[in-house]
Amino acid sequence: MIAGGIPTAKSATFTDQEGAKNYILQEGAPIVVKADGLAAGKGVMVTMTQEEALNAIEELFAQNFGKVVIEEFLTGQEVSVLALTDGLTIRPLIPAQDHKQIGEGDTGANTGGMGAYAPTPLIDHKLSDRITKEILEPTLKELQKRGIDYRGVLYAGLMITPEGDPKTLEFNCRFGDPETQAVLSMLKTPLVDVLLACTQQKLADLPPLEWYEGTAVCVVIAAGGYPNSYEKGKIITGIAEAQTEGITVFHAGTKLVDKTILTDGGRVLGVTSRAVDFQSAIASVYQAVEKIKFEDMYYRRDIGHRIS
Ligand code: GLY
Repeated sequence: MIAGGIPTAKSATFTDQEGAKNYILQEGAPIVVKADGLAAGKGVMVTMTQEEALNAIEELFAQNFGKVVIEEFLTGQEVSVLALTDGLTIRPLIPAQDHKQIGEGDTGANTGGMGAYAPTPLIDHKLSDRITKEILEPTLKELQKRGIDYRGVLYAGLMITPEGDPKTLEFNCRFGDPETQAVLSMLKTPLVDVLLACTQQKLADLPPLEWYEGTAVCVVIAAGGYPNSYEKGKIITGIAEAQTEGITVFHAGTKLVDKTILTDGGRVLGVTSRAVDFQSAIASVYQAVEKIKFEDMYYRRDIGHRIS
């Protein structure tokens, strides 16, 4: 449960199907049904009808999630703010936006994330300060109040409403994937210095984090069929050719067999470009993606479509 005072969507938590279903009948749709627990980034179902919502409840209980959260449907744009804390101080990293759905135009099933960019222009300095003061710092205070000495990454999943207000959707105690590929590509300060300061409770002593100018964009290449069933073991070519100046190809679902790289998961590679501006990063990341080949590979061609 999120501490009082932190702006969130209206929500209720249930450990029994009947209570959850009654709540849906009372609140109506659209409504959001979430697994309370680790779900590989796929535990959130945005349901547009009561029938879909009731089915989602059955599905989650059938998968042995003993607890579900039912949340108000909010409109706006989702933003991921990853922050680092040493338990005393919290510092936000640059804000990112992911593309959760498999299909172009944000359609189809939810995935772990199909592409991300950072920083997002949706969050200016003023909004970033609000997020720190209204969400991150109160969350750290609440952790302290509960006697939790948390040091590491606090990942706030936020909705920025059409009015420009941040509302908290979720927290994760981990980096986000693929947001991290974009965010850390922009970090100039050595990451190890920052992480060490977190473990030693010396984050307040560090100078401000330094960032490269411009934007980083990550495009995820997935196996055809993902997030449903997909095949593994396809030969991947073109990775070395793709890794030109400014491009890094992060491995996710791959394995090396006799000097050949094979697919070994749903999300296979995260091709990431850092460039002087958003448009250049998008152009160069897709040039790199086109050099990579494997049978049935799939990627979204519209990463960054929310930025005109
Ligand atoms: N990209 C979403 C997540 O890491 O949960």
